[in-house]
Amino acid sequence: MSVHEMYLKMKEKLRDIVPEPELKYKSELAYEINRLKEERDAVILGHNYMEPALYYSVPDFVGDSLELSRKAAQTERKIIVFCGVRFMAETAKILNPAKTVLLPSEKAGCSLAGSITAGDVRELKRRFPGVPVVSYVNTYADVKAESDYCCTSGNAAAVVNAIGSDKVIFLPDEFLARNVAAETGKRVIFPSVGSVGKWNHEDAPDETFQMIGWRGRCEVHEKFTVEDITNIRKQFPDVVIVAHPECSPEVVGASDFSGSTTAMTRYVEQSKANRYLLLTECSMGDNIAAANPDKEMLRLCNIRCPHMNQITLEDTLAALQKNRFVIEVPEEIRVKAARAVERMIQIG
Ligand code: 13P
Ligand code: SF4
Repeated sequence: MSVHEMYLKMKEKLRDIVPEPELKYKSELAYEINRLKEERDAVILGHNYMEPALYYSVPDFVGDSLELSRKAAQTERKIIVFCGVRFMAETAKILNPAKTVLLPSEKAGCSLAGSITAGDVRELKRRFPGVPVVSYVNTYADVKAESDYCCTSGNAAAVVNAIGSDKVIFLPDEFLARNVAAETGKRVIFPSVGSVGKWNHEDAPDETFQMIGWRGRCEVHEKFTVEDITNIRKQFPDVVIVAHPECSPEVVGASDFSGSTTAMTRYVEQSKANRYLLLTECSMGDNIAAANPDKEMLRLCNIRCPHMNQITLEDTLAALQKNRFVIEVPEEIRVKAARAVERMIQIG
């Protein structure tokens, strides 16, 4: 494909989303990335939150965390460039250690992954001996290594149900834990952060709980409120509201649908309504709008993920040119983490 053909391909999808001069500039970057990708035998995986010009030009596969983990595990290419955040690139390395995994920005972290350490998990396991640990995939490799199972937003309730244990430790997202508890009919408690040995009587006056959570939050999804929903429904009475399960249970309860980033995308594609509000990272609204020009996408773009937004076409090109930033996971941690991640993939 020539630079001009790349430009035409991007224009077809993005003519109403990306201004013309930016489209021209970005199509040149995309052309060079795709050329180098072939030369270096690389595959590019793009999370649903990538900005539209990147999302629609360079990834071989786009999707949510679960789908991209599967693609990372299956690829036969030598290099995996992960256009997403660090925990996703680490998961790719855990599943396919023989490959070189590159993350285009060193700053692409995640507030959930940063909310808990392996030491915290060990302390919880001491406090609740024998209780299986389920960690959200939005955690770093050493936390996964202390866990029995991983899950994503796409299969969290299925993983908790599949374990079939009386109690589970479910980490680290408070809101996802509350949403999974509501969906599976379980009661969740949150031992005091930093002193988990101390019993929190307010949370658990008795032993009738089935989930033990952690008070981690997604710095994006925690900001959406029921008041936002009420105001938007007043302004646009026909709006259909779609929320990620990292939003509070109150926000999820006031929405029309909740699911992983891919489940949200499919819901909009398959529904007949004309107008939607997406309570998630704003770029995903652009990507859905580009694929569904007949549907209006309302977005609250004052709330952004600063980590996902670190990944640009410029840095993706530099990643391939300079072989950076290489993701490494120490082998003893990788082997333990792989057990939890592979269980997550099997449960699907
Ligand atoms: P998904 O697994 O739904 O893609 O979510 C990942 C994420 O980081 C959402 O904030
Ligand atoms: Fe992490 Fe939230 Fe950003 Fe997703 S949106 S990567 S959970 S900070």
